[in-house]
Amino acid sequence: MMVYVGMSADIIHAGHINIIKKAAELGEVTVGLLTDEAIASYKRPPIMTYEQRKCVVEHLKGVKDVVEQHTLDYSDNLNKFRPDIVVHAEDWQKGIQRPIRDRVIEILARTGGKLVEFPYTQGISSTAIRECIESGRTAESICRTTPQEEKEKMPKILVSAGDAIVAKLIEEAGFSGVWISGFEASARLGLADNGSITMSEMVSIAKPIVRATKLPVYCDVDTGYGNLKRTAEELAYVGVTGISVEDNLCDKQNSLWGGKCDLMNAEIFAEKLKSIQGKIKIIARTEALIRGYGMDEAVRRAELYKSLSDYVLIHSRDVSGDEAKTIPNRFKGNLAIVPTKFPQLTTKELINIGYSMIIFANQTERIKIKAVRDALQILKLGSMLPIENTLSATLDDMRSLTPTE
Ligand code: SPV
Ligand code: MG
Repeated sequence: MMVYVGMSADIIHAGHINIIKKAAELGEVTVGLLTDEAIASYKRPPIMTYEQRKCVVEHLKGVKDVVEQHTLDYSDNLNKFRPDIVVHAEDWQKGIQRPIRDRVIEILARTGGKLVEFPYTQGISSTAIRECIESGRTAESICRTTPQEEKEKMPKILVSAGDAIVAKLIEEAGFSGVWISGFEASARLGLADNGSITMSEMVSIAKPIVRATKLPVYCDVDTGYGNLKRTAEELAYVGVTGISVEDNLCDKQNSLWGGKCDLMNAEIFAEKLKSIQGKIKIIARTEALIRGYGMDEAVRRAELYKSLSDYVLIHSRDVSGDEAKTIPNRFKGNLAIVPTKFPQLTTKELINIGYSMIIFANQTERIKIKAVRDALQILKLGSMLPIENTLSATLDDMRSLTPTE
């Protein structure tokens, strides 16, 4: 039984050994070792020559034979050697290697072979090792990406919740995080979104939400309620994952309305961000576009806040969506966006153009307002039957979203 494994094998690590081990359990392993040209066709040229790499690979336990693979594409070698099995890690099911995998499957279907895939070995790769060596940083900081860290690199879609039930529904629906909106929270307290809500009120709102969900919870803290450091500490203490803090001056006004007004000096705002380093995740938000200071100023601020935060949010309310489309061309970094005013841009489009966090900041409250208003009109007619089990959730459903004792 001939088992074929393609690899570059420039820097051998546990990932290679795992694959060879698994391949050897299926039969006699032939390694298709990519030539220097084949490697250079899709990534940086190898450090070791072909002969040097071959020397290492042919002495690895479980390897029976090493043959040259002249292209990233397997077709030539599969037609020539007609292996019974090709073994590869699952990672090529997505990304640039996908078409290569498709061709492998096509050829094996003709030659009577089969493809066996194994889970990709997490936390190690030649690229990461190279980065470690080149930057002088420790293995811990670069090489060992855990599945949790991999997950953290995925784009996040946050949805607003004001209470435990909505937080549970957001988790149930499969979103990646919860947003606690200053606008929504103020509105529920009967207040304007102008900086009148307090830190203690936000902490009280956040507590049951954090308790209700395993999702990360990000809390909008406006300008930080005076002492940003205390705010970050209190919210971290009740389990909030991150805060969004904006370079508005107190008294702020909601970003979706109002004209030009002064912003906090960007350098002073950066100092504020420094005061909460390491305490909690940070979404650093600039209101430069919202308050009419233009894209250059927004990008200047974003660059200043970048190294002091986990995400930068250049808030926009441009209904055409043009600003939102321009931002990722002008600023490279972890970008968050609140697309309230340009709902025509889909989540997928926003991710494709470079956003890594999308915040649906007030949809759940607005859905509730309309649903409750409509249902009240029906209820006013004198019977709750038309809403029971149709417009409303059942009693059991509500109970299932609360603890039973
Ligand atoms: C909020 O939801 O409170 C926000 C987003 O800060 S926005 O209302 O768009 O300013
Ligand atoms: Mg807000």
